[in-house]
Amino acid sequence: MSAPPAARYRVAPGGSIAGTLSVPGDKSISHRALMLGALAQGVTHISGFLAAEDCLATARALEGLGVRIEWPAPGEVRVHGAGVRGLTAAQAPLDLGNAGTAMRLMMGLLAAEPFESTLIGDASLMRRPMERVAVPLRLMGAQILTQDGRPPVQVRGTHALQAIEYALPVASAQVKSAILLAALRARGCTRLTEPAPSRDHTERMLRSFGVQVQQAGATIGLQGGQPLHAAALEVPADFSSAAFFVVAACLAASEPLLIRNVGINPTRTGLLEILKAMGADIRVHAPAVQGAEPRADLEVRSSALRGIEVPEALVPLAIDEFPVFFVAAACASGETLVRGAQELRVKESDRLAAMAAGLTVLGIENRLLPDGLWLRGAGGFSGGTLDSHGDHRIAMAFAVAALRARAPIEILDVANVATSFPGFLGTAQAAGLQISLA
Ligand code: S3P
Repeated sequence: MSAPPAARYRVAPGGSIAGTLSVPGDKSISHRALMLGALAQGVTHISGFLAAEDCLATARALEGLGVRIEWPAPGEVRVHGAGVRGLTAAQAPLDLGNAGTAMRLMMGLLAAEPFESTLIGDASLMRRPMERVAVPLRLMGAQILTQDGRPPVQVRGTHALQAIEYALPVASAQVKSAILLAALRARGCTRLTEPAPSRDHTERMLRSFGVQVQQAGATIGLQGGQPLHAAALEVPADFSSAAFFVVAACLAASEPLLIRNVGINPTRTGLLEILKAMGADIRVHAPAVQGAEPRADLEVRSSALRGIEVPEALVPLAIDEFPVFFVAAACASGETLVRGAQELRVKESDRLAAMAAGLTVLGIENRLLPDGLWLRGAGGFSGGTLDSHGDHRIAMAFAVAALRARAPIEILDVANVATSFPGFLGTAQAAGLQISLA
């Protein structure tokens, strides 16, 4: 059951973390599984699918484009591939809700379709920058209109897309993936160069669908015109959802916490490197590669953390984990500095501003920087009422903070937790957080 729009969390201070838990499937991989399945020939079977609002928005959009999707059991999805020329024009604007990944990847997918589509979303998504995707897709030959760089986005695609050589100005897996989706159906070989590595789920999954993707250093090559063959995909648990409990256990485990079957693709696990450098005791058990994505059980013990200057190269590899990372850093000894993280300003909220404001309410001395945040660790927090700004990861991060708070923490506007982590409340309660919905 999803929370009403004005829902808030009340989290009692203290408590301890223990046990074994599972978190839902990976959001990035679930979006891609639906989209590549839609372009394939044959029926793609997905298990471990994240049935959260963001991914359901992608499913609804694909259905609007004529794709048949079946839901045989919880977490199981069957996508009847429409093939590379099989999508049909939607009758209405495609509403992607809160999901930036859905909108940006859908732009790449629609760039090769010779009809007009309009993409819209909720108030947060309607504020997010889309030109970063529109610019390269226009170079390939698609007509794309944004409104001052933001949605609504109108895409008029073409069967005559041309391959491009393109250097991405930002390390963004969404931009990279949108271009790769268009490149699949462009004439010639598209070559992309990334300024720094970003999550590589699209490249890995394309190979599962039988597509050859070349990688030479920072450059990815994709020859257009390759068919996709339906695949069977097992989605691992989302590292970004596990991250809240990794930090919770670092701060307050009474015995080791085990989190099962978590995706540990190295382009996602920057937080583990950062926390280990701060003194965290995190063990990775039973790593396995099932299909394209590695996964493992994570065992986390409580540990005294030291503040850190986060290496900028790790920022894109931990990009979604900074809200909860700042909570960990506030409990560490000494100062912490994050720079080169300006992308956090254009996520579901301005995450640098939202975290700085919330940490101030909770008594943490901090300084907001154009591209990062400095803070002085205090071991714990006062209590208080915080605004999540409708951002799922801000809401969950401040819930974790209560483990080290001296008074209750109340978090406003938490309904969007359902965009990525349905069942967060129950999982958090089972792990030991004293959290309830108010
Ligand atoms: C995502 C890429 C990242 C990340 C987002 C999901 C993806 O965004 O923040 O939550 O699935 O490709 P950017 O590509 O904008 O960095």
